[in-house]
Parts: sequence; C-alpha cells; structure tokens
Amino acid sequence: MRARDGFILSNKHLLDAVAAEVMVCVKCDLWKGRKKAVPGVGNPESRLLFIGEAPGQSEDLKGEPFVGAAGKFLDALLSEIGFSRADVFITNVVKCRPPRNREPKPDEIETCTPYLNRQIGIIQPRFIVTLGSHSTAYILSKAMLPFDSITRARGKVYETSILGSTVAVFPTFHPAAALYSAHYKQRLEEDFQLIKEQLLKKGLIHPSTS
Ligand code: URA
Ligand code: SF4
Repeated sequence: MRARDGFILSNKHLLDAVAAEVMVCVKCDLWKGRKKAVPGVGNPESRLLFIGEAPGQSEDLKGEPFVGAAGKFLDALLSEIGFSRADVFITNVVKCRPPRNREPKPDEIETCTPYLNRQIGIIQPRFIVTLGSHSTAYILSKAMLPFDSITRARGKVYETSILGSTVAVFPTFHPAAALYSAHYKQRLEEDFQLIKEQLLKKGLIHPSTS
C-alpha cells in the first residue's frame, strides 16, 4: 500500500492498472499476432518475483504466464520449495507472444520493458528469480552488472539495486530447457534448493512453512 495524490492505492490496484494497459497495448508489432496479452499473475504483495521470457501458445490463449508444459515444471519447482504460484508474482520480459515462439527481438524488449519496470517498482521485490538468458540479461543490465551467458550467471546471488530498490537477483535456466534435457532439469532443481536456502537466510520464508 502507498499514498498517491492523497489516496491509498494497493499494489493490486496499481498492478491492475498496468495490466489494463498491457491488454490493449499496440506499442510493438507483437500485438498483431496475439490472442491475449500476458501481463503477469500472482500475489501483488509478494516479495518474490519470477521473470520469464515471453508468452508461448498456451499463455497466449489463456492470458496467463507459464501455463503450458514449462509452466507445469515451474509449478513443480515452486512446490518443492514450499510455494504455489499464487504466493509469488510471475511475469515475463515481453508481454505478447512472438510469432512461432521465436525469441523476442531487442527492440521488442526495449519497447515492452517499461511495463516490467513499473511492475518491479510497484512490487518492490526483495528477491528476483530470472528464468533464462533474456530476463537475466535484462535484469542484470538494470543493475549495471555484466552478463555474458546464462550458464555462467546461473546459480549465483547478485545483491544489488534495481530501480532504487535493494534486491537479490538469482538467475537460473528457463524451465522449458528442462523439457528436453535431464541436465538442465537437474540444474534447475539444484538452483531452486539454493533459492530456498537464500529465502530462509533472508527471512523471506520461515522453517515451519518451507
Ligand atoms: N515461457 C516463458 O518464458 N514465459 C511463459 O509465460 C511461458 C513460457
Ligand atoms: Fe505492447 Fe509489450 Fe505487447 Fe509489444 S509485447 S504490444 S510492447 S505489451
């Protein structure tokens, strides 16, 4: 909750306002191919934010992030560390589905990320998990930290500041990578255990609830 122009606006109100703009956004060409834009879902008061890349086909149909096969695996990873998707906030770097699930282009990321920045400003997360190279590259760049590859960046905690807030950033692989490789699946499971340890250490979860 915070005061704006004499009114108290909840995070939910503020995030709903961002979502309403995303739903009708035509700022880059990706709106042309979308069925539904995918602003993000979850607990507006969460201290924990997960950022993926861009919606795929299932997400585009439903208007919700991570509801396809990669999303099922993300749900399983969350559940292993004591969370459901309703406890955390989940969004993407780019809010509309790129054609044939291609990677988002730099100009699309640049045009869309003001929405993500606003979401971060509202939620003021204490812990951000970046899923895959696009969200990791973007968030580390906001923290003025170098990024060369997700393989090198993953599994580490970057204590930093983003948009004026102190935050820990934890990059890991994209959950879709686990769908075709047991190696990535195992790394993701290990990384989520490290996330759990970090959250316990920071008092963001408690031993009884984890
Ligand atoms: N992959 C992503 O990066 N985001 C989604 O929402 C779904 C799949
Ligand atoms: Fe707007 Fe982002 Fe969708 Fe492009 S991807 S149309 S910038 S919401």
